[in-house]
Amino acid sequence: MDFAKRILKIREEINDHNYHYYVLNDPIISDSEYDKLLHELEELENTHPELISPDSPTQRIGAAPLTEFGTIQHTIPMQSLANAMIDEELIAFDKRVQKLLETNSNVNYIAEPKLDGIGVELVYKNGVFTHGSTRGDGITGEDITQNLKTLNAIPLRLRHGNHPIPSILEVRGEVFITKSGFNELNINQEKQGDKLFANPRNAAAGSLRQLDSRITAERPLSIFCYQPGTIEGIAFETHMEFLEALKTWGIPVNPHIKNIFGADEILKYHHDMESKRNNLPYDIDGTVYKVNSFSLQETLGIRSRSPRWAIAGKFKAQQVTTIIKNIDVQVGRTGAITPVARLEPVQVGGVTVTNATLHNQDEIDRKDIRIGDTVLVERAGDVIPKIVKVIIDKRPQKTEKYQIPGTCPICGHKVYRSEDKAVMRCQNLSCPAQIKGRIEHFISRNALDIDGFGEKLVEQLVDKKILSSVDKIFTIKYDDLANLDRMADKSAKNILSAIENSKNTTFARFVYGLGIRNVGEHIAKILEKHFNANIHTFMNAQRDELDNIFEIGPIVSKGIVQFWKDRDNKNVVLSSIANGINIAKPDLSLTAQILEGKTFVLTGSLETLTRSRAKELIQKLGGRVSSSVSSKTDYLVAGPGAGGKLKTAQKLGIKILLEEEFLTIIYKINNK
Ligand code: IVH
Repeated sequence: MDFAKRILKIREEINDHNYHYYVLNDPIISDSEYDKLLHELEELENTHPELISPDSPTQRIGAAPLTEFGTIQHTIPMQSLANAMIDEELIAFDKRVQKLLETNSNVNYIAEPKLDGIGVELVYKNGVFTHGSTRGDGITGEDITQNLKTLNAIPLRLRHGNHPIPSILEVRGEVFITKSGFNELNINQEKQGDKLFANPRNAAAGSLRQLDSRITAERPLSIFCYQPGTIEGIAFETHMEFLEALKTWGIPVNPHIKNIFGADEILKYHHDMESKRNNLPYDIDGTVYKVNSFSLQETLGIRSRSPRWAIAGKFKAQQVTTIIKNIDVQVGRTGAITPVARLEPVQVGGVTVTNATLHNQDEIDRKDIRIGDTVLVERAGDVIPKIVKVIIDKRPQKTEKYQIPGTCPICGHKVYRSEDKAVMRCQNLSCPAQIKGRIEHFISRNALDIDGFGEKLVEQLVDKKILSSVDKIFTIKYDDLANLDRMADKSAKNILSAIENSKNTTFARFVYGLGIRNVGEHIAKILEKHFNANIHTFMNAQRDELDNIFEIGPIVSKGIVQFWKDRDNKNVVLSSIANGINIAKPDLSLTAQILEGKTFVLTGSLETLTRSRAKELIQKLGGRVSSSVSSKTDYLVAGPGAGGKLKTAQKLGIKILLEEEFLTIIYKINNK
């Protein structure tokens, strides 16, 4: 193989993918395929270090940490923009421009989103990225070349577009972090016990100011460019021409930039972007309007710090202050308890806000949120507004720390907090806030499997107070059903017989149906085995007994104990039994636990067994079935059509069983 050629080819492909992703916003390969290419390139360059070039995608990361940033003089000062806070100021700007240009016709502007990030300047010499800097005081910035090089969105070498490559290209743009990138970054920061960033802008600033560029490389930074500095070797007549050229060179330009005319279109663009703002993947704090013609820009000239040919239209604040009048506690359909702040109504970004979620006790403690506090509230996207921080200076005297009550606000039962989670939960099977969801779960296919008992029926029966807990299902009478809207005689009878049939059930189905926190089908089966399908011993089990069951951890066992601590939950079970629930003992012919502790994966089609039957058999014999192959897998049962899982298993040296071999194991036990 010609290594040099392959290296050049991969570099070109990677650059092409960056172009598709960042400039065209239309990626053509997956992230993992991209990583694979980069990995191949790294390996080739490792074995042929003489072929490494500074513009290779592998050279983005790895520069030695700095002790301080150097400085860079901007050849043309980086100015700022004058701000228009209200529509009238945008109209006045357009009037001023018309007057100075001595025209009555609509002026041609380029309208751009005003990104809320960090302004930077990139310098390309003969198409190669040589320097990058912050805005600094506008004259001198910090040299952040190493950090900017880590951004895949910044081409290390310009593409050959429709325009010749300029000998010097200085281009300004905004480095930013997307809203989702920001959320992920903060989750990571929290995991590592590092400080959280207040907003995407701060996160971008903090990431760019790292002396160790390897940290910057891990941050999801991106860039859109919007303004020329010095350009040599090529001249443009309009701002739009310049932006179009940037794209062909591989430099990202915001896709919402528009060519417009006159004040009406300025206002329309401004309002349009303001309404789209929350749905954009990154933060913008306004819009920018620039006279399109460079010669007219020159005629208009600059004031002391900002050009006369451009203006920024600022959006209404998304953050405002208000007062917490009260804190209420809500109970979700799964029993999760959520505190909600009731606010003195305020306008945020054009919407009246009266509530803000407080998430959980940890969040309340971290921000020390109290009733009566003045708080900074933020609205972003369609999500429920959140409280950014308390304005401590405005705290009234004699306030108290807020503590979520220890009982459910709906049913009054004790709430509990699982060891691994910040949320508190109400575990009352019959809590009115949860009852519909609990009944739906109880009758679902893998629980009691009551046919023809749909969501609508549950809703009607709960609303009519016929069902107030799951055991009441077994006392439903013909008249209860027949009196409902649109209930035919035949359907009512069918439902009653489905309820009757469901009474003969298994321990595992019944226990799974109770919806004990973290007790899914698999755990329910383990419990069935351990307690030999005796629901009474299970109801009275203590922590140490549960903790000693293989595969049951402390979080599950705590949830179980908490569940049975509530006497009403026990009563629901006893009442179900009194009303005919009959729990079968497990099938004793198959109880030899020869597959105890063994993990199986099934793949391909099986010929004599259905998958679910095979799964059931494995579980009855003490094994477990997992959906993916890993080093923890003991056996892969592979039928015709097996593909990826088979390959992975072979690679990991996992024992592979054909259907026949699998059946031999099962039958051996059956015939014992
Ligand atoms: S043009 C002479 N265009 O806003 C004009 N700036 O106060 C120079 N910004 O420092 C700036 N989006 O960091 C321009 N589409 C955009 C912008 C933008 C955000 C930032 C930039 C600048 C500040 C202006």
